[in-house]
Amino acid sequence: SAAEKGGWSSFMAKEISEQPEAVANTLLGRSADGAVHIPELDGLDDTLRGIERIVILGCGTAAYAGMIGKYAIEKWARIPVEVDLSHEFRYREPVIDERTLVLSISQSGETMDTLMAVKYAIEAGAKTISICNTQGATIARESDAVIYTHAGPEVAVASTKALVAQVTAVYLFGLHLARLRGTLGTAEASVLLAELQAVPAKLATVLEQHAEIRELAHWMSDTRSVLFLGRHVGYPVALEGALKLKELAYIHAEGFAAGELKHGPIALIEPGQPVFVVVPSPRGADSLHPKVVSNIQEIRARGARVLAIAEAGDASVLPYADKVFTIPPASAFFEPLLAFAPLQIFAMELAAAKGLDVDQPRNLAKSVTVE
Ligand code: G6P
Repeated sequence: SAAEKGGWSSFMAKEISEQPEAVANTLLGRSADGAVHIPELDGLDDTLRGIERIVILGCGTAAYAGMIGKYAIEKWARIPVEVDLSHEFRYREPVIDERTLVLSISQSGETMDTLMAVKYAIEAGAKTISICNTQGATIARESDAVIYTHAGPEVAVASTKALVAQVTAVYLFGLHLARLRGTLGTAEASVLLAELQAVPAKLATVLEQHAEIRELAHWMSDTRSVLFLGRHVGYPVALEGALKLKELAYIHAEGFAAGELKHGPIALIEPGQPVFVVVPSPRGADSLHPKVVSNIQEIRARGARVLAIAEAGDASVLPYADKVFTIPPASAFFEPLLAFAPLQIFAMELAAAKGLDVDQPRNLAKSVTVE
């Protein structure tokens, strides 16, 4: 009903607007004195110090949260991390043992493939932790420990606020692990935590561009194909932008790692082809910004219509972009938490412009509990 949607036109619109709280609530009670401490993991300290490898599992949007988690956990906690789709994992006799941690990510905690993959991991003797948004869900109950995301109930089929909460949780987990394993200095770790804590306020400002994004989406409502490019943690953002557009607006969309352009995708670029590009912050010694700007120049030279998501104040993309949506300054790891929203709003508004039901896209289910 309209009341349940809190005045929004759809549950999805409402849930996008709730993202700042989803992040803030997921952070609550999980740090003290500038250090991350996840109380739910108490009792697992020795286990987490002893593991040699992490495998992150999920399906759909949750798997993209996992991909982002890999970048962060490897960087901060220096443990090899593999990310797999639950259904690919469970049917290929993966090599795991008691020194492997299997970290599953699932909003519902009921996705059949992820549940069966977790059960496989348990049988193989692996340790299991789940990141889950639903209290008491089956995957949560099966796992050795659960880190709940506190995004609140998500009704729209396409996941939005649960995703930012999942990324928040996987980052908290990476920082928790780094503390236990002594792989980050305390000062560095507390700067990262402070950046995470600054996300809700920054995300609220990103959401203020809703009307501007709607205008672009309406203007593009007869578009047949959209490409998305990103690097590093911006790569899963590109994949998610494409998934949302397929799911909601039934438009052909593909996400690519920008570095792959010349290995294939650039052949798709013809005059007028819209391409969203997730542009990393230009600040920071190891920034990939110059690489992405040169990717933009390559596609622009072939006639692409460039739609950039870039840091506020980054003038370098302006000459090459047809449209720029800005996110507040944040270091590389925190950009995805800010860059998802414009892509979610774009897909939702484009679907709405086509008269589609954004909460219940055709052929999709909120929770896939069958194969
Ligand atoms: C379905 C939903 C997606 C979701 C995926 C995984 O496909 O439509 O939005 O990302 O399942 O769901 P889970 O509950 O495991 O996160």
